[in-house]
Amino acid sequence: MDEPTSKDKFEVIDGRRFQSLDDSNYVLPNDAGEEDRLDMQHAMIKHAFDGNFSAPVDQLLRSGGRVLDVCCGSAAWTLDLAKEYPNSYFVGVDIAPVVLADEKPSNVEFVEYNVLDGLPFNSNSFDFVFARALVSVYTREQWTELAIPEYARVTKPGGWVELLEWDGMIRGQGKCENIQHMNNALPGLFESKGGLIVSPGFEIQGFLEQSGSFTNIGHKERPIPLGPKGERYAEMGIRDFRDVWRAMKYPFTVSMQVTGEHYDAIVEAAVKELIDYGAIWEHMRVWGQKKNRTA
Ligand SMILES: C[S@@+](CC[C@H](N)C(=O)[O-])C[C@H]1O[C@@H](n2cnc3c(N)ncnc32)[C@H](O)[C@@H]1O
Repeated sequence: MDEPTSKDKFEVIDGRRFQSLDDSNYVLPNDAGEEDRLDMQHAMIKHAFDGNFSAPVDQLLRSGGRVLDVCCGSAAWTLDLAKEYPNSYFVGVDIAPVVLADEKPSNVEFVEYNVLDGLPFNSNSFDFVFARALVSVYTREQWTELAIPEYARVTKPGGWVELLEWDGMIRGQGKCENIQHMNNALPGLFESKGGLIVSPGFEIQGFLEQSGSFTNIGHKERPIPLGPKGERYAEMGIRDFRDVWRAMKYPFTVSMQVTGEHYDAIVEAAVKELIDYGAIWEHMRVWGQKKNRTA
């Protein structure tokens, strides 16, 4: 069967463009508004972790390597690295077409593909495979049976894989009823989407370890403060949550069985609670080196 065209892959609901593939559980939109959010989130995460990656690949990228950004989104990470490492070659794969404001750099390539069908690349063909914020792309089973084995397959022996995910729960604000309402609604929604993992940040290290394909596994955690007002990146964190909640209005109202108006009111009240009281949002990075089985 032919690959679906971009038109077949998406449907517009309440002014937002969502994936409409039968096999996808993805709950976020794929549109210009979402690309803006991803650009902002990229800046926030880079700041929180003091850099774009933690695996020891700086020298390799300086001398020239092949890098894969799995589900590259707005391509903010790919483009940032392509500029910093002109000797390396970067491939971004995503189901949605990447729309660039400027001309595509010569060391960057984009591939439109559904990663639930695997990765459309040869085995042992990348020095560094990076996958970030794929919480709603893979179910628990797909993480262990599909995603990690595919990342290991396309990575060269001795090459590196790095993942970044987070805790889907907002911590530290038990007293805020609207934040708790949103926290409580997420597991039901994710369960109804085939078993997406609410807090994959706590599990990705185990995924790399249990696959048996990696050595030299490292991890780094960064709590991103959400408010109170005043600090630029804390405000970005609040905007990120606000935009995600707004973007997920359709799946959340279906899952919570509330009207759109009621949902909007809960979200705006939860955002106000974040601004007034602050909270914590945990982010986790893990990386590992593909074992060299012939060594
Ligand atoms: C939350 S965004 C993260 C983007 C990027 N990794 C980042 O950190 O900014 C998830 C991305 O996964 C893509 N995606 C979702 N399901 C996909 C699928 N089945 N195949 C390929 N890409 C998919 C979406 O189009 C979106 O760009």
